[in-house]
Amino acid sequence: MKSIIDNKNIVLGVSGGIAAYKSVELLRLFVKEGANVRVIMTKYAQAFVGALTFEALSGQSVCTDLFEKSDDASIRHIDWAEQADAVVIAPATANIIGKLANGIADDALSTFMMAVTCPVVLCPSMNTHMFESNAVQRNLEILRSDGYFIIDPESGSLACGTTGPGRLPEPCDILDRTVFYLVPKDLKDKKVLVTAGPTREPIDPVRFVSNPSSGKMGFAVARAAEYRGGKVTLITGPTNLLDPNNVTVIRVDTAKEMALAVFENVENADIIIKTAAVSDYRPKEHAEQKLKKDKDELVLSLERTQDILKEIGRNKNEQILVGFAAETEHLERHAEQKLAEKNLDIIVGNIVGHPDSGFGADTNTVTLFYKDGTKENLPKMSKDDVANLLLNRILKIL
Ligand SMILES: Cc1cc2nc3c(=O)[nH]c(=O)nc-3n(C[C@H](O)[C@H](O)[C@H](O)COP(=O)(O)O)c2cc1C
Repeated sequence: MKSIIDNKNIVLGVSGGIAAYKSVELLRLFVKEGANVRVIMTKYAQAFVGALTFEALSGQSVCTDLFEKSDDASIRHIDWAEQADAVVIAPATANIIGKLANGIADDALSTFMMAVTCPVVLCPSMNTHMFESNAVQRNLEILRSDGYFIIDPESGSLACGTTGPGRLPEPCDILDRTVFYLVPKDLKDKKVLVTAGPTREPIDPVRFVSNPSSGKMGFAVARAAEYRGGKVTLITGPTNLLDPNNVTVIRVDTAKEMALAVFENVENADIIIKTAAVSDYRPKEHAEQKLKKDKDELVLSLERTQDILKEIGRNKNEQILVGFAAETEHLERHAEQKLAEKNLDIIVGNIVGHPDSGFGADTNTVTLFYKDGTKENLPKMSKDDVANLLLNRILKIL
C-alpha cells in the first residue's frame, strides 16, 4: 500500500509568516510521499522565501500573481482548485485566516481558495497575542464550522520574542496530520489497545535480559489505527521511536509493568493487538547493587513471567484479540497452537532472522492465521502496510 497522498494533487499555500521557510521542508516531504505539489504564494510570503526554491523542489511553476499569464490559456486558480485532492496552507497568517473566514478574494491564494471543494488543512502560525486575539479565534471558529481542518500551533518561544502558542508545527507533523485528515475513518470511535517493543528484566541496576524488538510493528499498528479514527492506547517497552500523534502512550520497562498497564486498559478496548515481545522469563532475583566481576562463572536463575495474552484470552468477551508470533522454525505449528491456547481471533506469524523481516526491520513477511482454521500468506511488505491489512481483516470480523 502506498502513502495516501501518493499521486495526489496537493496545493500548498504559503502566506507571509516568519515560518514560511518551514514550508520548503513540508513541500519536500509531500514530494517524497509521491504527491504532485503545486505552490501558491502570497506577495508577502515571497518576502520570506523566494518562489524559485518552491519551483525547483516541486518541479512546477509557482503561482504568485492572479493576473500573470499562464503558459496555456487556462484560468489557473479555477483549474488548480478543480484538480486538487487536498490543500494545505502553511503557514497561515492572521490575514489569510481573516480573508478565508469572510470570503475575501483579493489575491491568487485567497481567490483560489474560494473555488476549492476538496479538504483544506490550515496551519495558523503567528505571534501569541495575534493568535489569541478575538478576531483570529473568531475567524478560526468560523473556518472550523465551514469544515476546514485546523492544525493548532505549538507552544514555545517564538521568533518575535514572546512565549506561548503560535509556532508552526514541524513539517513531519503537518504531513502526519494531513494524511490523518485524508484517511477514511472506518475505525471511528473504536477503542484500540496496542502493545509494542521488548521488555527489560533487570539482573542488577545496569544489566538486563531483553530481546531486539524495535517496537516498529506495534507503532505502525497504533499509527494506522489512529489515522483510521480509532481511539488508541499504546503500551510500549523501551524503544527509540517517537510517540505517534494523538495516541495515548504508556511507557513501561518490565513484563510485570507491561502486564499491569495492559490489565488496567484492556476492559474498555474493542480491539487488542499485542505485538510486544514480552520476556517469557526474568531473573529470579535482581541485585540491588551492580554485580562485580569477581567470579569466573555466574549462574542466572530465571522464572516465568505472566502470560499476558493468555490471561486476556481467558477473560475476553466480544473483543477482537490479535497476537503476534515470532518463530525461528515450525511457524505454522507454533502459531496455530498459540491461536487455540490463547483464544485469539488472529495470530500474525513471522519467521525471525531475516534482514527484511521481524525484529528491527521496516518490512515484514507474515502469515495470518485465523480462528476458523484458515490462513493467509502475505508477501514482504512495509510494517505500515501489514498494519493496515491487519486492520482491514479485523474490520471484516467486527
Ligand atoms: C518580520 C515579519 C514577520 C511576520 N510574521 C508573521 C507571522 O508569523 N504570522 C502572521 O500572521 N503574520 C506575520 N507577519 C505579518 C504578515 O506578513 C502581514 O499581516 C501580511 O499582510 C500577511 O499577508 P499574507 O497573508 O497575504 O501573506 C509578519 C510580518 C513581518 C514584517
